[in-house]
Formats: sequence, structure tokens, C-alpha cells
Amino acid sequence: MKQEYSKHPFAAMLLGMVLALGVAVTAQAADSKDLVLKGDAKCTTCHDQDEKSVMAIGKTRHGATGDSRTPTCTNCHGESPKHADHKGGNRPLPDRTFTKGTATPAEERNAACLSCHQGGNRIQWAGSQHEGQGLACTTCHKIHNQHDTVREKATQTEICFSCHKEQRAQSLRQSHHPIQEGKVVCSNCHNPHGSSGSKLLHKNTVVETCYTCHAEKRGPFLWEHPPASDNCTNCHTPHGSNHASLLKTKPPYLCQQCHDFTHHPSTAYSGSGLPASAGGSAANAAGNSGAQQQLLRACLNCHTQVHGTNHPSGSRYTR
Ligand code: HEC
Ligand code: HEC
Ligand code: HEC
Ligand code: HEC
Ligand code: HEC
Ligand code: HEC
Ligand code: HEC
Ligand code: HEC
Ligand code: HEC
Ligand code: HEC
Repeated sequence: MKQEYSKHPFAAMLLGMVLALGVAVTAQAADSKDLVLKGDAKCTTCHDQDEKSVMAIGKTRHGATGDSRTPTCTNCHGESPKHADHKGGNRPLPDRTFTKGTATPAEERNAACLSCHQGGNRIQWAGSQHEGQGLACTTCHKIHNQHDTVREKATQTEICFSCHKEQRAQSLRQSHHPIQEGKVVCSNCHNPHGSSGSKLLHKNTVVETCYTCHAEKRGPFLWEHPPASDNCTNCHTPHGSNHASLLKTKPPYLCQQCHDFTHHPSTAYSGSGLPASAGGSAANAAGNSGAQQQLLRACLNCHTQVHGTNHPSGSRYTR
């Protein structure tokens, strides 16, 4: 028979469709068959196709019936005999419920998930900021939805912003990571499940986090600028700024936080000027507040390589 079908693909397709239909009809007719998850028949005698939003779980990874690790309804909701076997009105709730306002403590809800998802990214969940604040896995994850919004770039940030209003405001500033544009998401830098570093960062340090995308800023450089290899947030803010290039404050104030002006810049203030190589004579000749202003604004015009440089004569990051 097999050979015959392969010679007649259309006939094979037709028969396949008939068979599939037949199976579907049988499943519907016999109440005791599983509907979406293996072993769910105990629940789906009542929670059937009429509850489309509940059945949508069959379209998620939890609905991969071929996978022996796939949960059934009771892995999450508990065996719930009082609920399932109840006759008449006032049906007791299942052992564990997850909807808003549920009486099931977050810890117990999370334990159900962690029974399968303990490791991997969740290795630091216990003791993390989110765990400590009583968040549940299902505060962020939608289990019965075909689309788990928190894991999709286009929709993740709205969920985070619903609690992190300050970051929302920052992301709307003039200079920002393209978060609102949907190109960068919170979870590119943060692991919401917990981390061994501070601020739920994926990597142990801020610089390592930034290097994952800005690899060109990673040294080693012949001439390192210590604040850059130490922590990008010495000068930048990650979520948004009203100054260009996500700077915390604008040059020269940015630089002056650490650099005393009484040396090279003082030469300009005092009228003795910058080194000739830096156009010192002009600054010298001007020697007035206008030139000072220009200098103040212009650190970056000369010190172009503030992230570090490999140029042999770049010790001042001018090349
Ligand atoms: C005999 C019918 C029946 C069986 C069997 C049954 N349920 Fe229910 N279930 C109901 C009814 C009725 C409701 C209430 C629906 C409502 O109030 O809208 C409900 C509600 C629920 C809710 C929502 C509770 C809430 O308010 O958050 C969950 C979760 C649930 N059932 C899970 C299960 C699970 C898991 C099983 C299998 C162990 C199961 N049910 C078996 C009839 C049943
Ligand atoms: C992986 C865990 C998990 C599995 C498996 C699971 N549920 Fe749920 N269920 C949840 C969570 C979490 C919610 C809360 C809503 C959400 O996140 O989508 C929920 C909500 C519900 C609700 C309430 C829906 C509402 O909008 O009020 C019902 C009813 C329900 N589940 C029944 C079932 C049935 C029946 C099965 C098996 C076919 C099942 N659940 C399998 C986790 C699970
Ligand atoms: C009985 C085991 C089991 C339980 C309980 C369980 N899961 Fe899962 N979960 C799985 C399996 C298996 C997958 C398939 C993906 C994989 O390979 O890990 C999965 C996938 C997922 C995914 C999607 C991963 C992907 O790559 O698409 C999320 C998110 C998730 N689970 C969250 C939860 C949450 C939240 C709960 C608790 C409400 C929960 N799970 C309960 C076994 C389980
Ligand atoms: C603050 C929101 C938030 C909470 C709380 C949360 N998650 Fe997630 N989860 C995410 C985001 C965002 C992603 C997608 C980005 C990623 O993979 O890191 C994700 C991805 C996942 C995945 C799929 C990718 C992977 O890491 O395997 C699983 C499984 C998962 N979460 C399980 C859980 C479990 C279990 C809990 C509770 C212990 C939980 N999550 C709590 C936001 C959250
Ligand atoms: C239900 C509210 C809620 C949601 C949703 C939420 N968070 Fe949080 N988050 C908190 C609370 C509360 C804290 C601890 C208090 C604080 O530091 O703001 C926290 C802490 C954090 C921290 C650590 C702050 C620190 O100072 O150590 C980061 C980073 C973070 N959340 C990122 C995220 C990301 C990314 C998402 C989305 C995937 C998210 N959060 C979703 C409530 C939430
Ligand atoms: C480009 C990387 C990156 C992205 C994207 C990102 N963050 Fe952060 N976030 C950081 C860094 C780095 C810190 C630590 C800042 C510090 O130590 O000064 C931080 C700190 C935080 C904090 C702690 C409060 C604070 O300002 O120190 C919260 C809360 C937070 N982020 C939430 C979010 C949320 C929500 C999103 C998504 C809208 C997000 N972050 C996107 C890198 C990022
Ligand atoms: C997930 C990748 C990713 C990570 C991680 C990341 N960035 Fe970015 N960064 C981008 C993208 C994308 C842009 C926008 C580039 C563009 O528009 O050409 C950008 C732009 C910038 C800009 C220029 C902003 C402007 O307004 O011109 C600065 C500064 C910056 N990032 C600093 C950082 C710092 C500091 C970190 C670590 C806290 C970091 N980035 C981590 C992807 C990332
Ligand atoms: C000493 C202050 C300082 C530190 C520390 C610093 N930056 Fe910058 N960064 C700047 C300045 C100033 C600009 C603007 C340069 C310009 O406009 O020519 C800039 C611009 C950028 C830009 C956008 C333009 C470009 O060069 O691509 C990125 C991306 C960036 N920095 C990433 C980083 C990363 C990643 C770190 C940490 C490894 C870091 N910065 C540390 C001062 C700093
Ligand atoms: C967080 C502190 C900090 C900030 C902000 C900072 N620097 Fe630096 N800078 C340092 C340190 C530390 C050194 C190394 C000093 C040393 O070796 O004596 C250094 C060295 C330098 C040098 C070389 C000095 C020498 O003696 O060779 C130049 C030039 C320089 N920085 C320019 C800048 C400019 C321009 C800015 C603003 C964009 C800036 N720095 C912002 C801390 C900072
Ligand atoms: C017109 C170009 C120019 C401008 C503008 C400029 N610098 Fe410089 N700077 C130089 C040159 C060239 C050197 C190297 C001097 C030398 O080798 O003796 C230097 C040296 C330095 C040094 C090392 C100091 C030392 O004692 O050797 C620091 C720190 C520094 N500049 C910071 C700044 C800051 C901060 C600004 C902005 C307020 C700034 N510079 C503006 C050209 C400039």
C-alpha cells in the first residue's frame, strides 16, 4: 500500500485528511481522551474546546505532546480532586490558581514552575530582587496565551515598564537605547530571573554587559582610559539621557568631575596656552573668556579617543 500511495501523492493526501478528521471526531466524541496536553482528560471533561483561551496552551511549548517532559494541567494547578470531582454548586477552587487576586501564595505558584525550570537562567532566582519582592513567574509569563508577551521583543518592555516607570521616562529622552523602537529589550542587559552581578545584569559587571554589543570598546588598549575599562556608567547612563550619546552630563563638566583644570586647561585660563601641537598659540593669543568657553566645550574635539586607543602616541587620547 505504501508504494501505491507514494505513486499517487494526491490520493495519499486525501486519505491523510480523511484519517485526521476521523481522529478528531473520535477524540471529541470520547470525553475521556486528552484534548491538548497528555493526561489532561481529568480536567478537559469540563474545560473543553469551548474555553478557547484555556485550550490555547496546546499551541505553546507546554503543548508539545510528543515531549515526555511536557506538563499536564495538574503539574501546575495541582491534582485538585475536590475541584474536579465536585457535584453541584459552590465548586472549591483547584489546589493552585494563578489569576490575579489568587489566594495561592507566590512561593507555592513558583514552586510549581521551578519543579521543571529550576536550572539554567533561573539558577539565581532564589534571593533575587524580583523573588524578594514577591513577584511570581506568572506576573510576567502568560501560560495559556499562544504568545507569551514578555518573551517577545515588541511587547516585553510594556510589562517591565508597568512597574519600572522611571526607566520608561528615561527611555523617552533625546538620547536612548532603541528600546521604544523595539531593537533593544530590557532582557538584553538584564536577567529578570536573578543574577550573580548587581542590578540583575546578565553579566557580572557593567562593562561586560556593554561589550556584548559594543565589542569595539573592549580593550585591551595600549592606552586605556581607566574610567572606561572600569565602568561605562562613569560617563554613560544606560536607559536614556537628555545629553547626547547617553552621557550623564555634558563635557566639559563630565571630564571635570575627575580632571582638575589647574594643569593643562589652566594654561589656557592663565593665558599661557595649550601646547603648540594643540593649537596653543591661538588659544594663547585669544586668552579671553571666549577661548575658554571654546576649550570647555571642546575636550572631545582634541581628546577624540576617550574610550582608549592603540595609537603609539595616543597617551592623551587625542588620536
Ligand atoms: C466537573 C467539571 C470540572 C472539572 C472536571 C474540572 N473543572 Fe475546573 N472549573 C470548573 C468550573 C465550573 C469552574 C468555574 C468556572 C467559572 O467560574 O468561570 C472551574 C474553574 C477552574 C479554574 C479557574 C479558577 C479560578 O477562579 O482562577 C481552574 C484553574 C481550573 N478550573 C482548573 C481545573 C483543573 C486543573 C482541572 C483538572 C484537575 C479541573 N479544573 C477540572 C469545572 C471543572
Ligand atoms: C505550565 C503551567 C500550567 C499548565 C500546564 C496549565 N495551566 Fe491553567 N493556568 C496557568 C496559569 C499561570 C494561569 C493564569 C493565566 C495565564 O497565565 O495564562 C492559568 C489559568 C487557568 C484557568 C483560568 C483561566 C481564566 O482566564 O480565568 C483555567 C480554567 C485553567 N488554567 C485550566 C487549565 C487546564 C484545563 C489545563 C490543562 C489543559 C491547564 N490549565 C494547564 C498555568 C497552567
Ligand atoms: C512538568 C514540567 C513543567 C512545568 C511544571 C512547567 N514547565 Fe514550562 N516548560 C516545560 C517544558 C518541557 C518546556 C519546553 C521547552 C524546553 O525545552 O524547556 C517548557 C517551556 C516553558 C517556557 C518557554 C520556553 C521556550 O523556549 O519556548 C516558559 C516561558 C515556561 N516553560 C515557563 C513556565 C512557567 C512560568 C511555569 C509555571 C507556571 C512552567 N513553565 C511550568 C516544562 C514545564
Ligand atoms: C520580571 C519578569 C519575569 C519573571 C518574574 C520571570 N520571568 Fe521568565 N522570562 C522573562 C523574560 C523577559 C524572558 C525572555 C528573555 C530571556 O530569555 O531571558 C523569560 C524567559 C523564560 C524562559 C524561557 C527561556 C529560558 O530561560 O529557558 C523560561 C523557561 C522562564 N522564563 C521561566 C520562568 C520561571 C520558572 C519563572 C519563575 C521562577 C520566571 N520565568 C519568572 C521574564 C520573567
Ligand atoms: C510587578 C512589578 C514588576 C515587574 C512587572 C517587573 N519588575 Fe523589576 N522590580 C520590581 C520591584 C518591586 C523591584 C525591586 C525594587 C526596585 O529596586 O525597584 C524590581 C527590581 C528590578 C531590577 C533591579 C533593581 C536594583 O536596584 O537592583 C531590575 C534590573 C528590574 N527589576 C528589571 C525588570 C525587567 C527587565 C522587567 C521586565 C522583564 C521587570 N523588572 C518587571 C517590580 C517589577
Ligand atoms: C543597554 C543595557 C540595558 C538595557 C537595555 C536596560 N538596562 Fe536597566 N540597567 C542597565 C545597567 C548597566 C544598570 C545599572 C546602572 C548603574 O549601576 O548605575 C541598570 C539598572 C536598572 C535598574 C536599577 C535602577 C537603576 O537605575 O540603577 C532598573 C530598575 C532597570 N535597570 C530596569 C530596566 C528596564 C525595565 C529595562 C527595559 C525597559 C532596562 N533596564 C533596560 C542596563 C540596561
Ligand atoms: C543588546 C545590544 C546592546 C547592549 C548590550 C548595549 N548597547 Fe549600547 N547601543 C546598542 C544599539 C543598537 C545602539 C544604537 C546604535 C545606533 O543607533 O546606531 C546603541 C547605542 C549606544 C550609545 C549611543 C547612543 C546615542 O544616543 O548615540 C551609547 C553611548 C551606548 N549604546 C552605550 C552603551 C552602554 C554604556 C552599554 C552597557 C550599559 C550598552 N550600550 C549596551 C546596543 C546595545
Ligand atoms: C570617560 C567617559 C566615558 C566612559 C567611561 C565611557 N564613555 Fe562612551 N562616550 C563618551 C563620550 C564623551 C562619548 C561621545 C563621543 C563623541 O561624541 O565623540 C561616548 C560615546 C560612546 C558611544 C557612541 C559613539 C561611539 O563611539 O560609538 C558608545 C557606543 C559608547 N560611548 C560606549 C561606551 C562603553 C561601552 C563604555 C564602557 C566600556 C563607555 N562608552 C565608557 C565617554 C565615555
Ligand atoms: C571617572 C573619572 C574620569 C572621568 C569622568 C574622566 N577621566 Fe580622564 N582619566 C581618569 C583617570 C583615572 C585617568 C588616569 C590618570 C593618570 O594616569 O594619572 C585619566 C586620564 C586621562 C587623560 C590622560 C592624562 C595623562 O596624564 O596622561 C586624558 C587626556 C583624559 N583622561 C581625558 C579625559 C576627558 C577628555 C574626559 C571627558 C570626556 C575624561 N578624561 C573623563 C579619570 C576620568
Ligand atoms: C585644542 C585641543 C585640546 C582641547 C580642546 C583640550 N585638550 Fe586636553 N590636551 C590636549 C593635548 C595636545 C594634550 C597633551 C599635552 C601634553 O602632551 O603635554 C592634552 C592633555 C590633557 C590632559 C593631561 C594633562 C597633563 O597634565 O598632561 C588632560 C587630563 C586633558 N588634556 C584634559 C582635557 C579636558 C578635560 C579638556 C576639556 C575641558 C581638554 N583637555 C581640552 C589637547 C586639548
